[in-house]
Amino acid sequence: MGKRRRFPLMLKDSIDFKSHLKAVSEEIEAVLTDILPLPSGNQKAVMEASRYAALGGGKRLRPFLMIETARMLGSLNKGVYIAGAALECMHVYSLVHDDLPCMDNDDFRRGKPTVHKKYSEALAVLTGDNLLTISFELLADLKVHEDPNIRMTLISDLAKAGGASGMIGGQVIDISKSSEIRDEIFISQLQKLKTGALIEYAVTAGATMSNASESEKTALKNYARDIGLAFQIKDDILDVEGDADIIGKSVGKDDALGKVTFVSILGLENARTRASQLGKSAIAHLEPFGKKAEILSKTVDFILNRAY
Ligand code: IPE
Ligand code: IPE
Ligand code: MG
Ligand code: MG
Ligand code: MG
Repeated sequence: MGKRRRFPLMLKDSIDFKSHLKAVSEEIEAVLTDILPLPSGNQKAVMEASRYAALGGGKRLRPFLMIETARMLGSLNKGVYIAGAALECMHVYSLVHDDLPCMDNDDFRRGKPTVHKKYSEALAVLTGDNLLTISFELLADLKVHEDPNIRMTLISDLAKAGGASGMIGGQVIDISKSSEIRDEIFISQLQKLKTGALIEYAVTAGATMSNASESEKTALKNYARDIGLAFQIKDDILDVEGDADIIGKSVGKDDALGKVTFVSILGLENARTRASQLGKSAIAHLEPFGKKAEILSKTVDFILNRAY
């Protein structure tokens, strides 16, 4: 963390979402900069590549959601930032591996050459493995939460969200070439796993660390499911009509790779309509939290309207 930084960030009465997201993502950047090991020893290449992959880019949406959920529930502290950094490490690992030549074969990520382009394919595999492992090491740290049961829940839930019933499962379906029916139900299930699971984790982990009530957890889980799907629909739309310079990654890849996406199944207009329906539904799930949910509500608009 920066030495003179007030922590956590204090909120003003009226929130300008973009500047708030920027301020929080700077805090997350500072935590990651502190936490990720500095290159040392004969294995220093993997530490250097892990810092290259994780620092200096990305929207930091997943830790942001965790932090804002905990803030809304009155429990934001340094531990939430460390748990958010853990989730970001898991997410960055998924990106490093997603970009590999044997997966989506992408040359750019977050405005820079992908890890396998900058270093080597073998090091990119190991860098992903390293970031994945770091995520669990971070969650086990006493600084995350004083209650070991809560830390165990955070670890176990992240394993589920990242595994074969979550992100990895979605990635496996994404690369499958079988002739299953490719309709909206199929793509919704795929995206729920591939992208939805880690986004859902972001929000539920924030609730877990805040000892939220069962009804609060249910409302937040429903909110997270809707935004997770809306987020991936927007990602698919941006792959068609986004600007590579703004988005920081190549566009037009899904079509070139013959991927099944919301856009390939529904078409651009219907995909947009579906995303906005999900956005409305997400906001409706925040009703029990009233005015306190302002940031989570504005996050929905950001997800739907983002250009990157
Ligand atoms: C990209 O995620 C991969 C998907 C799950 C769609 P983000 O759009 O959140 O990527 P960063 O973290 O901002 O780079
Ligand atoms: C990747 O989805 C989701 C992950 C689990 C990393 P995409 O392949 O659509 O993500 P981008 O478009 O490369 O960021
Ligand atoms: Mg992919
Ligand atoms: Mg990809
Ligand atoms: Mg994509």
